[in-house]
Amino acid sequence: MKFSSKRGILSAMGMTAVCFVGAAAHGQAGSPSGQATPAKPLMSEQFFKNVQVLKGIPVDQFLGTMGFIAASLSVNCTECHSAGGRGMIRDYAADTPKKQKARQMMLMVKAINQANFGGTHRVTCWTCHRSDTQPPETPSLAVQNGAVPDRDPNDIEVPDEPIPSPTADQILDKYIQALGGAERLAGITSFTAKGTYAGFDTNLDKVPAEVYAKFPGQSTAIVHRSEKAENITTYDGRNGWIAMTNTVLPVKSLTGGELDGAQLDAEMFFPAGIKKYLRDWQVGFPPTTVDDHLVQVVQATAPGGSRVKLFFDAKSGLLVRVARFADTALGFNPSQVDYSDYRDLAGVKVPFHWTLTWTDGRSDFDMTDVQTNVPIDEGKFGESVLPKAATP
Ligand code: HEC
Ligand code: HEC
Repeated sequence: MKFSSKRGILSAMGMTAVCFVGAAAHGQAGSPSGQATPAKPLMSEQFFKNVQVLKGIPVDQFLGTMGFIAASLSVNCTECHSAGGRGMIRDYAADTPKKQKARQMMLMVKAINQANFGGTHRVTCWTCHRSDTQPPETPSLAVQNGAVPDRDPNDIEVPDEPIPSPTADQILDKYIQALGGAERLAGITSFTAKGTYAGFDTNLDKVPAEVYAKFPGQSTAIVHRSEKAENITTYDGRNGWIAMTNTVLPVKSLTGGELDGAQLDAEMFFPAGIKKYLRDWQVGFPPTTVDDHLVQVVQATAPGGSRVKLFFDAKSGLLVRVARFADTALGFNPSQVDYSDYRDLAGVKVPFHWTLTWTDGRSDFDMTDVQTNVPIDEGKFGESVLPKAATP
């Protein structure tokens, strides 16, 4: 069972692993990048009813872990959680044979890593499963002698002998220049945008969306899925939340890699500060392409420790993808934002379209009306923009 054939069900159950803000645009250098985790994150065993293995992790990371295993086997949540009517899962806590098998596999993976890899996540569900519920045991002659498939650009690592490349500074300077230059970017301190969103949770129908961003590093995206249902992703400069009506966890307060992701999205509105915000810059990746365009790859670390890869169009210098890797209980959850349709706005280039892809969803934002330097009320960011019943 692949996700693509199951979009309707997926959205009905509505679990998100990462935020859906995305968006990039512009501004000044050097926002304060202190990262704060909420004082007491809600733990998996406090909120869920039947957690036996994945204890002691925050609820957002628990759901991220579910996304990780679903992606590793390329199955939908219904594979292990039995669906009731209309594909809605009534009871995630109930055990099924596949769920019990998965629990056993989690313990097996933990034991393998402890015995052989110093307790790191070197062996994960993906290592064996690779989108297959029944990992093969015999080498395939067809695969061995067949055409070598292209590697996923997000997967490519720096080889032992790094490929000669411009320095990270040079690539980032070219990017800032391509956007309009540091001075012009510094003149922009806020964005408001209106447009549309289309995702699995809207059955790919376009619905209205709004985006707000304020220097330094605050952003909010609101998607009006229907009159009664909304998605909100917000980062207030310290803490982040994802609120989605009708989901397992209607309001998620973000921690770890997910918080890194929300902060990154907010910071990327004001990319002139990117050199200071991310650290441990690394280049030397083999040449690769995104959408058939040659790209230059730069890797960095976000303040919370997540690995981030940035892909710049080799010709235009513009950022075309940000891939990030959020740690879960079992391995790194990949997600990516692809930027396109850069347009000129007040002398700087702004992407009007972006696509967010994560382990159990994909969504497209199309902006039609983008304004810069419009005052934005503080109430548009953080807890105050969440639905009133917000708890976790
Ligand atoms: C390969 C099997 C598998 C898949 C696919 C899977 N889960 Fe799970 N799920 C589990 C297991 C195993 C547990 C129990 C974990 C434990 O005991 O620590 C669990 C527990 C849960 C719980 C906690 C329920 C409770 O109250 O105890 C939720 C919520 C959940 N899963 C949601 C999801 C969602 C949403 C998806 C789809 C993205 C998903 N799961 C996909 C195996 C799976
Ligand atoms: C070392 C290799 C390996 C790793 C790592 C691994 N699995 Fe498996 N898994 C298998 C094999 C082999 C089978 C088939 C077992 C069988 O035929 O009974 C399987 C079967 C399963 C099944 C039953 C599928 C079905 O439709 O019958 C589930 C569910 C599952 N694994 C979940 C997981 C999860 C979740 C992880 C990560 C925590 C994981 N596996 C990691 C090797 C692995």
